[in-house]
Amino acid sequence: MVFDGLYAERAKLMKTSEIREFFKLTEQPDMMSFAGGFPSADFFPMGKVTDVLQGLIEQEGKFALQYGPTEGNLELRTYLAEKMTQEGIPASPDNILITNGSQQGMDLLSRVFLNPGDVVVVEEPGYVGGLGAIRNYEGDRQSIPMDENGLRTDLLAAALRKLSGDNRLPKFAYLVPNFQNPTGICLSLERRREMLKLAREYNFALIEDNPYGEIRFEGKALPSIKSMDTEGRVIYLGSFSKTFIPGIRVGWLVADEPLVQKLACAKQSTDLCSNSLGQRMACRFAASGYIDEHVASLISHYKEKRDLMISCMEKHFPAGVSWTYPQGGFFIWVTLPEEMNARSLLLKAIERRVAFVDGAGFYVNGNGINTARFAFSEASPEKIWRGIAILGELLHEEVTGLKKAISA
Ligand SMILES: Cc1ncc(COP(=O)(O)O)c(C=O)c1O
Repeated sequence: MVFDGLYAERAKLMKTSEIREFFKLTEQPDMMSFAGGFPSADFFPMGKVTDVLQGLIEQEGKFALQYGPTEGNLELRTYLAEKMTQEGIPASPDNILITNGSQQGMDLLSRVFLNPGDVVVVEEPGYVGGLGAIRNYEGDRQSIPMDENGLRTDLLAAALRKLSGDNRLPKFAYLVPNFQNPTGICLSLERRREMLKLAREYNFALIEDNPYGEIRFEGKALPSIKSMDTEGRVIYLGSFSKTFIPGIRVGWLVADEPLVQKLACAKQSTDLCSNSLGQRMACRFAASGYIDEHVASLISHYKEKRDLMISCMEKHFPAGVSWTYPQGGFFIWVTLPEEMNARSLLLKAIERRVAFVDGAGFYVNGNGINTARFAFSEASPEKIWRGIAILGELLHEEVTGLKKAISA
């Protein structure tokens, strides 16, 4: 390659996520795929979007098709500041930065916080987009295992004591506290408090990424970590991708004003501003109350899919396979018997036109070989019951094979 000797050191670390590579294979039309964590396109409000777009162009076209402020459209920031305040996070428009999806928030934060080799605390397993942003800015990801209550703060406390002794305290911790991608698990209230306490004690920032929190099927919502934060230590990331539509690429970040300004400087050299048309569309839909109504209907649709996938797993999966029971969001996390390799299983499943994501890619340390993520959000009910039944058959064959191998 002509440019091989010209790349910056950090570019050598950049690689496409294996998971995204797999999507190309799994998104073929006849595939029963539970791989992509996409919202269901069947729920996109096509007719309403067409009407609103038409109105926008007719009434505000000169602005909607123009560049806008780097921080984002003021009307949208004002709406989001009120929304955040109602949710227990007091904010003014100056505390809001509109981003190109919450993914851009992660990228900008990694850019302004990280020097090469700086430590960042991440969940194990963790969201690949967050992990990738940290890696691209040469952060050293220290992953802390999770259990059914989220990140193990006792293990984090022990890790921090050691890191402190080595003079390598983290710059920030990156968390998805609600219906986490990939596990569907929520961080318990006690651990939210504990995270904040540890962040204070060891002086690091907390990034709270919350794209799924509003898609709750049952149970009581837990307060966000940011709502318990009295010193501006928590940075909150929100997104319209799961509650409305991802194609407009509109997310937001909530932080103290000096950090918002710093991030806006970083954003200026990235894209000058977020999508003007998308921001105005999000603003019209959100301010009219439509998104809240839409979320209510999404909850009942996604709950049906969660229920269906879980009942199919209960019916078809053999003993020795276990899974999480998410109270919201898009994902179920499956743990196979220890001796089983989820990647080999996936390759066999693809031959039978069923796909999921094997779990190793969500780990930074080579663990999770026997784990897998199943998204129930996108597949049709028919594909869910057929796909899980086929996979159940395959799993039974694999378990029988394992038993024979062990007894031989
Ligand atoms: C935990 C998490 N954060 C962020 C994102 C990215 O969302 P956005 O479309 O807002 O960039 C996703 C998308 O799947 C996600 O699961």
